[in-house]
Amino acid sequence: YLNYQVPRTRKEIFETLVKGLQRLEYRGYDSAGIAVDGPNKTTTDINGNTICLIKKTGKVKALDEELYKKDTLDLDEKLNTHFGLAHTRWATHGEPSALNSHPHRSDKDNGNIVYINVICILYLPQINKGYEFESETDTEVIPKLIKYVYDNRENDSITFSTLVERVIQQLEGAFALVFKSRHYPGEAVSTRRGSPLLIGVRSEHELSTEHIPVQYNRYRCSQNKQKITRYTDDSEGERHCDRLQSCSLDFSHIGLHVFPVFLSAHSAIIEHTNKVLYLEDDDVAVVTKGELSIHRVNRQAGEDPVRAIQTLQMELQQIMKGNFDAFMQKEIFEQPESVVNTMRGRICFDSNKVVLGGLKDHLKEIKRCRRLIMIGCGTSFHAAVATRQILEELTELPVMVELASDFLDRNTPVFRDDVSFFISQSGETADTLMALRYCKNRGALTVGITNTVGSTICRETDCGVHINAGPEIGVASTKAYTSQFVALIMFGLMMSEDRLSLQERRLEIIKGLNVLPELIKQVLSLDLKIKAIANELYQQRSLLVMGRGFNYATCLEGALKIKEITYMHSEGILAGELKHGPLALIDTQMPVIMVIMRDACYVKCQNALQQVTARSGRPIIICCEDDSEMTKNAYQTIELPHTVDCLQGILSVIPLQLLSFHLAVLRGYDVTNAHKSHSVQ
Ligand code: F6R
Repeated sequence: YLNYQVPRTRKEIFETLVKGLQRLEYRGYDSAGIAVDGPNKTTTDINGNTICLIKKTGKVKALDEELYKKDTLDLDEKLNTHFGLAHTRWATHGEPSALNSHPHRSDKDNGNIVYINVICILYLPQINKGYEFESETDTEVIPKLIKYVYDNRENDSITFSTLVERVIQQLEGAFALVFKSRHYPGEAVSTRRGSPLLIGVRSEHELSTEHIPVQYNRYRCSQNKQKITRYTDDSEGERHCDRLQSCSLDFSHIGLHVFPVFLSAHSAIIEHTNKVLYLEDDDVAVVTKGELSIHRVNRQAGEDPVRAIQTLQMELQQIMKGNFDAFMQKEIFEQPESVVNTMRGRICFDSNKVVLGGLKDHLKEIKRCRRLIMIGCGTSFHAAVATRQILEELTELPVMVELASDFLDRNTPVFRDDVSFFISQSGETADTLMALRYCKNRGALTVGITNTVGSTICRETDCGVHINAGPEIGVASTKAYTSQFVALIMFGLMMSEDRLSLQERRLEIIKGLNVLPELIKQVLSLDLKIKAIANELYQQRSLLVMGRGFNYATCLEGALKIKEITYMHSEGILAGELKHGPLALIDTQMPVIMVIMRDACYVKCQNALQQVTARSGRPIIICCEDDSEMTKNAYQTIELPHTVDCLQGILSVIPLQLLSFHLAVLRGYDVTNAHKSHSVQ
């Protein structure tokens, strides 16, 4: 949404949208679409407006080329209302195709209500009103539904936001939506539930970054244009608005114009503004001619009526690939710095003190709890598995590790004296978020371990730790894993500070953390060797990764990376389970990677190795430097520097991150453009 006071050419609008899409391409790249104002109709059409919808299979570049092929569209036509929608898709429902890509429209009359979904998991309401669906996506039901509501409106004065409010009351599931309609030119309405949606705000004037005390009446900027204060326009104001249960941030009355952008991720707008406002579930944000207002359909008890304008710290170059071919590769190689950023200002290597500022006020309560529950999905769950043993040792508390979806499926008992951790890179993963709300409702203290400041998990937890790994854009989580790992270990160190019996152990770990960045660099220097191993393996159909103890999580995480990026079958196997079934898979053909480090499980792992070699397996062993016993029995070794047992998993996962990257490239997959698309599902 460009400054509405200045007419813009269609070309300028295209350029702004395409640039934003390119920044967002990491959310998906199989198709893309744009909706902008079309040519004015001279017929009796309402307000003479049309909307032009252009969609294309492939990357944003393909869409960009398509835009300029439309000879029916005058690129130089100046438009007074210019709210455009743009979307890049990664298929979940329906194959990648122009028809299935977003935005979707309510009918083919090129210009009715168009809707864009940012990320959506929907359970469809039963609507069957004779509408013709164009795509195979579940989301298309929404523009059809809004058309139905519009066609059946009780009078013509119905507002756009009322229509949207009525629609979302019919929807179940998670969504983030932006609507545009020819019936409401220059106006856009946006809403979310479960999926992230933020509004980038730019203004000619300095905006306040303080929290805005939204209550259930109206707010406007004060004369000095810095603060937003409450006003009521009639004596009934407060009561009246309570009844309406809506709130509004109104910047327009004193000429402070904002140019808002609705987004699913802030990387898209970082070059335009670093000021953002996060919408809450069921907020309905309306923008008309530079006026932004936020309404709520229903006020729930205990709801936080505050929407703050926040300043993002992310720099544009931070999200660029630098000299690397792919974000994933860049992020793997960033790990020596990202772990330092996780520890920065939190560990004092002179006094051996560890302070996590976000937890210190709750430390007493955490120490009194009866158990810790670590909850996450995918890689974030693996970070919990990786640190469980050391957390049990340092906190002397029982630690449960839980996959968020399974935790919810089981209706797991949770008590007031539990402390629940929610580990999530994005801070938006739906299952993790639902588990958080579940635990909160049962009175447990909730702690967030996230990488995304301002994310929903950050905002909804009682306290937490930002892992500060920097933006993770590659589709496969890499540096976030090692930073989550370090953050959880720091939590254990903080908890054990006054335990005399644990001081020696603490010291050993703190020393290990101090040299960790250097050791990570050493592991990364094995890249060429790992690439050579990938060359030998890339045509295989399957790959097993085996280990136990502190390195079991490495096997799960390595196998996940391989599956996700290379599309090969891969399985992380607990070496202790080998004889209970998996051994049957071992033969001369099946590639097996074993993680055998010098720790308490070394002898047991040797035993597993013997079982593998007895079956003529040809193991590639990730082991400690100078372990002649391993070199003797392995088909190949990847030798890593030795560190404290509980930190070894940070080093042992890196060869598998690199291996999965090289395997994917060799198998012909486009890792270069594989950006996050699933993180909020
Ligand atoms: C794997 C991966 C996913 C995420 C999972 C949770 O490489 O990226 O398994 O770890 O979807 O996402 P977050 O951490 O954002 O909650």
